[in-house]
Amino acid sequence: MKKYWEILREYKISLLISPFLVLITVLCETIQPTFMAQIIDDGVMQRDLSVVTQTGLYMVLISIAGLCISVINIYISSKTSIGFGTDLRSELFDKIQQLSFNDIDHFSSASLVTRLTNDISRIQQIVLMSMRLLLRAPMMLIMAVFFVVRINLELAMVLLAAIPVLSLSIFVILRKGFPLFMKVQQQLDRLNGVVRENLINIRVVKSFVREDFETKKFVKSSEELRDLVVRASNIVVAMFPVMQLVMNVSIVAILWIGGYKVIGGELKVGELISFVNYVMQVLMSLMMLSMIIMTFARASASSERIVEVLDTKPSLANTPEGLSDKNRIQKGEVSFRNVSFRYAGGEEDVLRNVSFDVRQGETIAVVGATGSAKSSMVQLIPRLYDVTGGELLIDGVNVKDYHLDELHAHIGMVLQKNELFTGTILDNLKWGKQNATMEEVEEATRAAEAHDFILSFQDGYDTQLGRGGVNVSGGQKQRLCIARALLLKPKILILDDSTSAVDSETELKIRRNLNALLSDTTVFIITQRVNTMQSADRVIVLEDGEVNAIGTPANLLETSDVYQEIYHSQQMTLP
Ligand SMILES: Nc1ncnc2c1ncn2[C@@H]1O[C@H](COP(=O)(O)OP(=O)(O)OP(=O)(O)O)[C@@H](O)[C@H]1O
Ligand SMILES: [Mg+2]
Repeated sequence: MKKYWEILREYKISLLISPFLVLITVLCETIQPTFMAQIIDDGVMQRDLSVVTQTGLYMVLISIAGLCISVINIYISSKTSIGFGTDLRSELFDKIQQLSFNDIDHFSSASLVTRLTNDISRIQQIVLMSMRLLLRAPMMLIMAVFFVVRINLELAMVLLAAIPVLSLSIFVILRKGFPLFMKVQQQLDRLNGVVRENLINIRVVKSFVREDFETKKFVKSSEELRDLVVRASNIVVAMFPVMQLVMNVSIVAILWIGGYKVIGGELKVGELISFVNYVMQVLMSLMMLSMIIMTFARASASSERIVEVLDTKPSLANTPEGLSDKNRIQKGEVSFRNVSFRYAGGEEDVLRNVSFDVRQGETIAVVGATGSAKSSMVQLIPRLYDVTGGELLIDGVNVKDYHLDELHAHIGMVLQKNELFTGTILDNLKWGKQNATMEEVEEATRAAEAHDFILSFQDGYDTQLGRGGVNVSGGQKQRLCIARALLLKPKILILDDSTSAVDSETELKIRRNLNALLSDTTVFIITQRVNTMQSADRVIVLEDGEVNAIGTPANLLETSDVYQEIYHSQQMTLP
């Protein structure tokens, strides 16, 4: 809530003006039946046409004035609510950027998309509604009750009886409705999840001819959403007939009792008619109020979901020591000290008792079977995830004591599942270093063996990449990602299976270039290729989350069974 106020503060002038405009509009509306009574009692009944025309003219003028002011208020409140929605969305987006991998895993990216779009729209709607109707309903209620009591207190009692009935029905409906509104939003998350996954993997879907299956999955999720929405809407809809009934019964009662009074000479005809008009206004404002409460209930589900994200403390934030920003990465030595790691929500540690020291400039190959936690291990170095046990040091300082910016400026990482962004090749290359010169860019692309193929494209470095880099081949994509990381001239470079789609010859070239370009850089290469393993300074063999062996390739070839196995499996020549 505090967050909302912070944003709304920017619009305080509009927020202050709006209630006055609403008040004027309400006054213009509620005065009308009084004039009407005047026309009937003093004009029509007395056969005085001048009263009719004069009062009639007032009525028209006042309602035009009310209309104009109402339009101004609509303009102001639309502007405010749209501005508010935009600001809130930016705030939320900004927050999501700060979240760690763990946090994103927790929310799921599909749910974050729903929160950024649908949930924000609902809150935006609430701001609009609040500015237009929230004050209008109670003001109108008060004014109308005031006039009703002024006309005839006894008749006003009938109205008093109707109000508790209405309030009770509103309460009951809300209690049933609220849990459903929450469920609707969650189902919307699931639907978005299905769509997102489908669109990301659309090529796989098509190549396996699974369109029907996917469509069924979508329809199922979509129908579940429909059923929920129908259930929630039914509750809302149920409210109207109840209100209508109460309203009509009260009017009949008023006409009946009022009729007696008119015949008895206690009440004038015009007064009775205006009374009925006021009762309508009272009931209208009550209905409006219940609508508002309903919309609020619905939006509070959305609001909870937004606040949940806004209030999340990124699980990877700068520590106080890190914030002081006094530690610098100079050499790029990495030490694991009895490190263990478990994913949030995971049942067991994926890494256990990992200890080793890496000197500056060393090239370390990390090998092991699939699922042996190679990726998990290297992701700890730039703090994409935090260790859950032991400690990880760079240049003898705990990684948590570095500012995150310092870590990310000096650690280049090519993730196993790397992505490019929509934009030109050059934009993508400069992604981590906006101010890089063309010479620096070319140095990096040459080292990554990407320069030549980039130039072979018609537009060269200005070639547009589609979303996620769809229009380059897998190996080309990997080389662009390597170049992007090299441009940072990192002290520590981590390549997670980054040349798997590149042919061995090109890979060898890249490795040689790396040695020449970044001779002082500490390099971790996760690889399946024996050539790469053999050319490393040392090899770490992981087995099921533990270090099985560590040493020079020549050494391991003699001492490590696991390494021998990997080595020989690739030396085998097929018959
Ligand atoms: N985001 C995640 N959340 C929970 N568990 C995960 C996550 N990522 C990986 N794991 C689990 O951690 C273990 C190690 O996975 P990891 O990706 O580190 O293996 P790997 O050695 O890199 O495998 P590969 O050679 O296939 O890339 C696996 O059992 C996997 O199920
Ligand atoms: Mg991996």
